[in-house]
Amino acid sequence: MDKKNTGAWTNQLGFVLAAAGSAVGVGNIWRFPYLVAKDGGGLFLLVYLVLVLTFGYALLVSDLALGRGTQSNSIRAYKKADKKWNFLGKVTCIVPALIMTYYAIIGGWILKYIVVYFTGNSTVASTDGYFTNFITSVYSPIIFALIFMCITAWVVYLGIDKGIEKVSKIVMPILLLMIIIIAVFALTLKHTDSNGTVRTGLQGFLIYITPNFEGLTLGKFLQIVLDAMSQLFFSLSVAMGIMITYGSYVPKDVNMNKSVQQIELFDTVVAFLAGMMIIPTVFAFSGTDGMSAGPGLVFISLPKIFNEMGSIGIFIGIIFFIMFAFAALTSCISVLETLVANVMEFFNLKRKNATLWLAVIYSIATVIVCLGYNVFYFELKLPNGSTAQLLDLMDYISNSFLMPLICMISCIFIGWVLKPDWIIKEMESSGDKMTRKGLYAVMIKYIAPFVMFVLFLQSAGIFNLIFK
Ligand code: PHE
Repeated sequence: MDKKNTGAWTNQLGFVLAAAGSAVGVGNIWRFPYLVAKDGGGLFLLVYLVLVLTFGYALLVSDLALGRGTQSNSIRAYKKADKKWNFLGKVTCIVPALIMTYYAIIGGWILKYIVVYFTGNSTVASTDGYFTNFITSVYSPIIFALIFMCITAWVVYLGIDKGIEKVSKIVMPILLLMIIIIAVFALTLKHTDSNGTVRTGLQGFLIYITPNFEGLTLGKFLQIVLDAMSQLFFSLSVAMGIMITYGSYVPKDVNMNKSVQQIELFDTVVAFLAGMMIIPTVFAFSGTDGMSAGPGLVFISLPKIFNEMGSIGIFIGIIFFIMFAFAALTSCISVLETLVANVMEFFNLKRKNATLWLAVIYSIATVIVCLGYNVFYFELKLPNGSTAQLLDLMDYISNSFLMPLICMISCIFIGWVLKPDWIIKEMESSGDKMTRKGLYAVMIKYIAPFVMFVLFLQSAGIFNLIFK
């Protein structure tokens, strides 16, 4: 689409912060820490770091360069690059279309906790069953989700530079500052149990960063690699058209290579800091047992701990949930923006109309998915072994099933049809050198498609079928 209609980032900083805004989201704050706790602490960190610098790099470069090179959002980018691959653009759009049905709901949960902390009800939020009671109630989650949806839609409505970029430039530095404050605070914690055991945040930090090889088998190691891999591309917002769309708004004189490094760094640092705040805190108050709380860590364990901390806990709780809301907001914006850009192009609509239409449609979808916890409640056994309600089902189809599949096909397309040189040329079009060229080509041609295939087999439950 014509740049005049879509707009562009004003400069490199604006672009990097907006892309980092998309990348830093609930995945960093919520999922990363519990994966680290589950997958051997420092061992997971190491595997993750290696993957960020290799796969993450290759995938992020591919999406962004494809966007800037074709000057098109995801629905058209593949077609512009090669007519025969039009279908891939269309399939890619399904991922944000599904994610958008539930992302605002999670945003709404966060908003609810902000309100709870501000209104002095944090003690109530720390009681057993509070979170479950809240998300299974009929009205409250819908109201908060719709508020979150309105804020998201408002920013997208304002446009690229005046909306998304402006908000990211304010929110992202504050987010970073807030998470540093809480992470450092976590290290100073000291807690004495009722039986007299003293545990400190610093000890928890050591558990967090020390690789734990206990009981490690080849199978377990592979599981860690796959966990890190799926976390990685969810976290970098790749393989769903978002970074293609954001790439299409990048002015030609921006140094893409540096930008990619900065985005990767921002995303990884925030994930690391999230672990650095959550794991030592949970360890100090509940020991290693508390660390296995899984997805419940953020909405269930942390409010309990904040409550135990007394008045400082309310303060830390407020900072934490505001920071968390910022992370979710900028990600949700990127999902909606991608859909708006696609709809604008596909139906030839103006931004404002496209945003309004999508906001209405997704408000309805949000209500339906919210009701998945009560009116439309069901328990579905997924191929990967977990039990799902409506929200989990949307998450499963988009992230576990479609993303690895699309990523694999996209790597094959870029590696073998379009060829890595096309991407490298685009990366260097501003006159700056691309530093990891050789690595990029090997990754995108050989290693990434293979690993994506394995990841797909695993998430689709095909491994379970074969090895049962
Ligand atoms: N990257 C975001 C995160 O880490 C998640 C996200 C997924 C954002 C999909 C947009 C789309 O949470």
